[in-house]
Amino acid sequence: MNFDVIVIGAGAAGMMCAVQAGQRGRRVLLVDHANKIGERIRVSGGGRCNFSNHDISAEHFLSQNPNFCRSALARFNQWDFIAMVEARGIAYHERDHGQLFCDTSAREIIDMLQDQCAAAGVQWAQPCSVQAIQRVDTPPYRFALTCDRGTLSCHSLVIASGGLAVPKMGATPFGYRVAEQFGLNIVPPQPALVPLALNPALLARLQPLSGVSIDAEVHCAAAQAEGATPSRASLPCVAFRGNVLITHRGLSGPAILQASSYWQMQGMGTTATGKRGAIVIDLLPGLDAEGWLLGQRNSKARLSKVLAGYLPRRFAQAWCALSGEDPPLNACTSRTLSKFAHALKHWALMPAGTLGYAKAEVTLGGVDTQALSSKTMAAKAVPGLYFIGEVVDVTGWLGGYNFQWAWSSGWVAGKFS
Ligand code: FDA
Repeated sequence: MNFDVIVIGAGAAGMMCAVQAGQRGRRVLLVDHANKIGERIRVSGGGRCNFSNHDISAEHFLSQNPNFCRSALARFNQWDFIAMVEARGIAYHERDHGQLFCDTSAREIIDMLQDQCAAAGVQWAQPCSVQAIQRVDTPPYRFALTCDRGTLSCHSLVIASGGLAVPKMGATPFGYRVAEQFGLNIVPPQPALVPLALNPALLARLQPLSGVSIDAEVHCAAAQAEGATPSRASLPCVAFRGNVLITHRGLSGPAILQASSYWQMQGMGTTATGKRGAIVIDLLPGLDAEGWLLGQRNSKARLSKVLAGYLPRRFAQAWCALSGEDPPLNACTSRTLSKFAHALKHWALMPAGTLGYAKAEVTLGGVDTQALSSKTMAAKAVPGLYFIGEVVDVTGWLGGYNFQWAWSSGWVAGKFS
């Protein structure tokens, strides 16, 4: 019942940490309340686990302290994890934007980590719930845990219990409660990489388009919203090119999910007003829309028909209906065509909210990084207590970044705990 290291949460970060600590000869126990191991890894990437990305840098992460993730990402980077995957013989491939996926199944990543845990002598307590944690002063032990299996003691305690996304997969606020118990601040958690909801009136008009997907560029920055105050340095102006999917509840698709994290951040007091602005969608990315429309000013075709050359026909018709105008181009002045071009490049929508944790991929916010050492992931004021992975206020873009953060932060804590 006595361990050098107890890791709570046997997800991506927890297993990586346990392996590293075990390989150092530490007596490690991995505790998880779930029946199955690594469920989030199993379902990720459509079952193929987008485990990392060829292009990883701090700019791909959101945090109140954008520099915090640098150290861990440098010490155990994407190439280190790729080397692990290759050493195991897991076949993988690269998709758009450097995203790396298993060829066959996410299960291979779980099996790799489980086998590494076994080889490193890691012990498991699963399913096992922790009811209470207390600090003790009985060297070398610093923490006592009351759990289903009695009382456990450890020298180092690593919290790797993840965020709040997808509660039905076992997400709990456990990690935040532990942080609060030990006096650490929490950046208020919010669903991120999450579909956006629209107000009922707009939704009703877009409903017939449910299921339609367009290639667009989504901009999300307070500075772009009418009347909004320019954002602080920690909230850069971002634009994501990719699919935007119209659903029966609002907007989804990779470009929207990416923008959603920044939209959520706007409401966290990161902007001077703390208010969220509109998201702005460029419906004709990469196209000089004004030049293109002006070049067709003699056409008898209506705007919606011309737009259908670039956009799905149903969408072009609905967009014209929403704007209340669908004239033949030869009936328009140059000024009107320029106005249409601007509107197509800057379709501003004010989301009514998000679809919440049930549909989110990750949690924005979490344990405040001010309280942690970026070199070790240890709580500065509580010797022996570590926080890793998604429970920490570091949130990656879509595209393998969140797993890389889990591997990197888990690896670092495994070297020090
Ligand atoms: P993680 O959530 O993986 O693990 C936490 C563990 O703690 C769980 O096993 C849980 O059961 C346990 N736990 C929680 N509360 C506990 C308690 N009270 N007591 C004991 N144990 C407790 N990212 C990416 O980079 N590429 C991708 O392809 C995807 N795809 C994806 C799909 C879907 C549907 C979701 C929901 C998420 C993704 N993600 C992703 C995000 C990624 O899964 C996530 O960021 C990491 O799994 C976080 O790893 P952690 O180890 O921090 O938490």
